[in-house]
Formats: sequence, C-alpha cells, structure tokens
Amino acid sequence: MPDLINLTIDGRAIQAAPGTSVIDAAKYAGIEVPAFCYYEGLTLAAACRMCLVEVEKMPKLMTACTLPVGEGMVVRTETPQVAEARKSMLEFLLSNHPLDCPVCDKGGECELQDMTFRYGAGESRFTETKIHVDEKQFSPVVFFDNPRCILCYRCVRICNEGMGVGALGVINRGAISEIAPNKGDHLECDECGMCIDICPVGALTSGIYRYHTRPWEMQHVGTICTYCSNGCKTTLGVRNDEIIRGNNRDRSGINGEFLCIKGRYAFDFYNHPERLQAPLVRVNGKLEEVSWSKALQTAAAKFNEVRGRNGKFGVIGSNHTSNEENYYLQKFARQVLGTGNIDHHRTGDVRTLLDALSGKMGKLATTADLYRKKAVLVIGADLALEQPFLSFQIRANYRHHQARVYVVTPEPVREDKYAAAGLRAAPGAELTAVESLRGRLRAEPELVIVYGDVLKGEDVRRLVDFGESLGIPVQYVCLVDGSNSRGAVDMGLLPDAGALALPDMLAAKDLEVLWVVGANPYASVVGQALSPANPFLVVHDLFLTETAQAADVVFPAASAYEKNGTVTNVCGEVQRLRKAVGAMGTKPDLEIMGLLAREMGVAAELGPWIPDTIFAEIRKQVPGYDVPLPVLEMGGAAQTAAVNGRLPLDGRPELIRSAHDNLFTAGTLGRYSKVLNSVVERHGYR
Ligand code: SF4
Ligand code: SF4
Ligand code: SF4
Ligand code: FES
Repeated sequence: MPDLINLTIDGRAIQAAPGTSVIDAAKYAGIEVPAFCYYEGLTLAAACRMCLVEVEKMPKLMTACTLPVGEGMVVRTETPQVAEARKSMLEFLLSNHPLDCPVCDKGGECELQDMTFRYGAGESRFTETKIHVDEKQFSPVVFFDNPRCILCYRCVRICNEGMGVGALGVINRGAISEIAPNKGDHLECDECGMCIDICPVGALTSGIYRYHTRPWEMQHVGTICTYCSNGCKTTLGVRNDEIIRGNNRDRSGINGEFLCIKGRYAFDFYNHPERLQAPLVRVNGKLEEVSWSKALQTAAAKFNEVRGRNGKFGVIGSNHTSNEENYYLQKFARQVLGTGNIDHHRTGDVRTLLDALSGKMGKLATTADLYRKKAVLVIGADLALEQPFLSFQIRANYRHHQARVYVVTPEPVREDKYAAAGLRAAPGAELTAVESLRGRLRAEPELVIVYGDVLKGEDVRRLVDFGESLGIPVQYVCLVDGSNSRGAVDMGLLPDAGALALPDMLAAKDLEVLWVVGANPYASVVGQALSPANPFLVVHDLFLTETAQAADVVFPAASAYEKNGTVTNVCGEVQRLRKAVGAMGTKPDLEIMGLLAREMGVAAELGPWIPDTIFAEIRKQVPGYDVPLPVLEMGGAAQTAAVNGRLPLDGRPELIRSAHDNLFTAGTLGRYSKVLNSVVERHGYR
C-alpha cells in the first residue's frame, strides 16, 4: 500500500491515498463539499466551479474535484470567501435558469434547488430577459428543457462512459451551448434513462414520470426488476396503489443506480387494459369469466379425478415466478400429482456448470466480481443488449480498473470497443477461439468466464476443463434469460429421469392435464400440432396469451411487482421481491396454488403457502440456498453456495435455448409494455 498523505480539512487531520481528490478526501471524512459536475465514477469536467475551497498557500480558490491531496495541505471548505464564491456561482447558474420549480419534475429532488436554499442569494441581480428555448422531445422516454440545463455534462459522460453509447453531446458555444441527441432531432440509444436520473436539475425529464406527482407523495418500494436475469434492484415510486416511476437513486442493491429501460420504465405492463382481472373457465367451447371459487372447483375436481385414476399430468413453470412459487409448484407436482413431468423454458446450462464445479469453492462469480476482477472473458453473448447490467459492470471495471476484457462472439458487440481481444467465432467454433486465447489468459492474475447458451452439455465441461487448466483463479457465470431462470433450475422445475420434458408434454399423446404456471409455451408452437390428447389445460397468467386462449381454466395471476418472495439472479444471488401494488382481481401464483391444494383437500401435505415459510424450507432443502437471512432483510443479495455432490442431469442440452431478448423485447411481457413498444430502437438497434 502506498504511503498515505496527511492533510487537514476544516481543522481535521485526514489521511488519504495519493491521487485522491480533495472532494473525495473530504467526503470520506464526512465533510460535504457542494458540487454539480463532479460525479463519482465519471471523468472530471471541472465545469461548474461549485466545489471551490480555500487552500493555504494557494493564491486563489481551488476546485476540490480536480485538486489531488498533497502532503501538509490545509483546506478550508466553509470560509466567508468560499461562501461568497458559492453564492456567486449559484447566482450565475440561475442567471438564465427559469424559476419554474413549482411545475418542474425535479422539484423536491433538485440539487440546484437544494444548493440555492443552502448557499444561494435571496434574490437575483439579473434583470435581463432570459434566453428561452422550447422544450424538446428526444425520444418517448427522454425530454429536454434547455433553459434549465446548467451544463454540468453529467448526462454526456454517463451515456458515453457508463453506457458506452455516446448518444449525447454539446452543440454551440457559450450562453447558447445546448445538449443535443445523436440523430439530430432524436435519440437512437439504449433509452436507459441514466442521463435523466443523473441530471442534477430538471433539464432532462422522463416521458413516463413527468407531471405525474411529487417525490414526497409517493411511497418508495425496493424490489427486483421482473425482466432479465441480472436482478437489478428497482425502487418503485407508488402513489394510490399505482406505480409512477422506477429508479434506484439510493444506490442500494447490486446495481447501484444502474437500470436499463426495462427496469426503469417498462413496469407499465402491470396496468395494461388487457390485464386479466377474473378467472376464466371454458363453457360450451368459450372462455367465460367466473368467480374464483368456481374456477378453483373446476380445476380441483379435474385434478382429483385424474389423480384418482393415476392419469398423466404435465407441469410447466416459469422463468419469472418466485423461488417460493417454483418450489411449491414442483412439490405439488411431485408429491400430490405424482408426476415428474415438470419443466420450464430452459435458457442456460446452469446445471452442468454446477455439476462440473461440484465441491469447489469460490468458483461462481457475483455481479460485483464482474466489476472488480482483473480479466473477463465473454463467450457467445451480446451483453449490452441481452444482459445490460452485466455489460455495465464490465465496462465500469475496464474504465476504473483497466480490466482486460476478451470477447468471443459471432457478431460485433459493444465490448469490442475496449476489448483486449475481440474474436468472431461461428456457432460451434467458440471453444476453438477460446483455446487460441490460452496464452494471454494464462498470463492474467485472475479471470471471470461468462458464457451464453452457445455452450451447453459437454461443451460446458470442456470450458471448465479449459478454465481449470489455466493455473489461475477462474470464476464462471452461466447466462440465463428471465428474472428467475436461475431459481427455476435450482428449485427443480426440471423433469425427473425418464419423465417428459417441455416439448414432450406439448406433443404427448396421453397427457390428461397440462398445468402451466406463468409461461406461454404455445406461443412458440403456434401452427404446429399440439398434443393429440388435447389435455385439460390450466393456465396462470397476467394476460390472455396464446396458451391461455387454449386453456380450460385461466387464473389471473399477480406480477412480480404485486407479490412478496425471493428470486435468484444470473450469478446465483438471492434477493427479495417486495409487493409494491395490488392488481384488481389477481392473486399471486403461490396463493392460487395454495387455494387449489385446499380445494383438492391436499393443502396439509404441502404446508402453508406463505413465502417466508416456504423460503425457510428452501434454505433447508435446496443445495446452496442456506443463505444468510439478515442480508436479504436489509435489501441485499446473498449468493447461493457451490453444490457439493453430483446433480441430476437429463442429458438433453439441446432443450436449452435463450430467447435472446434484447433491451426492447421481453417475450410475452414485453408485448404489454407501452414504453418498450414506443421506442424506435425496437425495430432495429445495435
Ligand atoms: S437514455 Fe441512456 S443511452 Fe440514451 S442518451 Fe440517455 S444515457 Fe444515453
Ligand atoms: S442536461 Fe442535466 S445533466 Fe446534462 S448538462 Fe444539462 S444539467 Fe447537466
Ligand atoms: S438489466 Fe435486466 S434486471 Fe436490470 S433493469 Fe434491465 S432488465 Fe431489469
Ligand atoms: S464539482 Fe468541481 S468544478 Fe464542478
């Protein structure tokens, strides 16, 4: 460790590593220096002069954000001269800033408003007419009100550096400088809203949130995004049982403040007008709305009748339902329905990886490891579009720690821009390309290998053999798709030996009941012959999907934002879902299954359908899930442990296939998000 530097800030003796800025040194010591353009993790702009401080022996005030600490330095942050400078800077910033706080979306959360209250002048000396520029809409998501902009360049930097997109820039000079989008009058970008979130004032505002409410009128519920497997925490702003916005400004959770368009804006599927609000039962060939008791009786009577004569059941679960729901479903199938015909849409070969690493500790990378390990190898995945948070982590690792990133993909990807090596490999040739990197990878001090569905079965074992032969610490991430794809595998939504897998169930000649909880398997087989046995089909879903349309009983299910429970992300990190709102007429899948069990008279065999009680059972029964509860209670992520012992594998890796949804698509759910459907990038974006 290099020698620490001793300095004094506001009379307090402080030690800091060489190269630390005065603003950071002050922050670590609990002294706040006001700033606008400075932003942790981004390059310095030195644009606002708000962070001016007095430094002994220096002739004028210095910007604390650009000044490195020096031995014996004496800094003062609260002198009359500093106060006067701050007041002047604010007066200057407000010289053209409209005083429209009462109608500005940022009101109550605006850094300029806060600073003006604390350090500003009571009145302005400017009497000149302000330069007015009409508000612009850069995209359905991003609006820009130029006069409010204080030209801190945070938006430009987060888009360029954080997102690796570079869609925002500055045009003109001086007083008429203006933030501008990359396509002249509009943006073509990730539509992530990171620029809006980071804007200290109300210059960039969100098309989804603007003019809806005030921050203090909402409750803020931290839960987990229901879209991809990365498991970002999203804090939903809720007013009158309505979700108004999503962000993660408190930086709690594994993703800090990162969210992609789905986690930040695409919650709007939840109140889509086509949302199912009552159970449906097929009567004379048509689905009709019925009461919950009628629907439960219909399904329970059929289940009991088929069960009573040992008829054949098939059960298909979901990549989006909670661990508790998946666990209860497989228990229901195996213990009550007596079937091992249970499966889900498998999106990555997690099982083979866990089996290949059996008994080895510390081999599974966390999302944090992608930010801090010295080297990362990405195989067969376009991370920026398909695994946005993982991509963000790796990019930040490169920017902050100069991590070496190696890429082996069929097409060019965003990671190529900064990769130490970017190789193109046709499907099936990935491991050969990886082998060509052996020499360089061996020279790395450590490595995280991230692979997509191009590698499965024996290829995963070959990859692990390769990794373990490098002679350096290697960790792995098996990419999967949905918010709980990993949990679906871990909870056992996989067929028993010799039992029917998902496609077998759809084609079976003798299946009597098919129970589909939160999935839409018929969407991918539309037009193809389904099971000639025409099983009694029971479906839980939010919408009347292709599968629900074919059903005999449909239960309207609650979404992830309407229930409690846990989910497991792509890196095996378990986090809590917290109920933010209720949707009229729906119930969580767990409750539906519990009520069905009660109606069938088998509830006692399955135990209470209470998420916490089931999670306690999961912690005891599911290998690796004995995670520390306090971490979850505090809103954190607890990684599941490595598995010790062999895992059952069904030996059909060909059934594993990612949907390769990108930033703007999301299977069935994405069809019902107005935001995802409104952006131009949906029709093509790289
Ligand atoms: S929405 Fe995201 S990608 Fe688009 S300009 Fe803003 S920061 Fe850049
Ligand atoms: S739009 Fe906001 S973030 Fe961008 S330069 Fe202006 S004030 Fe800063
Ligand atoms: S990266 Fe995935 S988990 Fe994170 S906000 Fe986007 S869709 Fe949600
Ligand atoms: S924060 Fe230092 S110049 Fe803006």
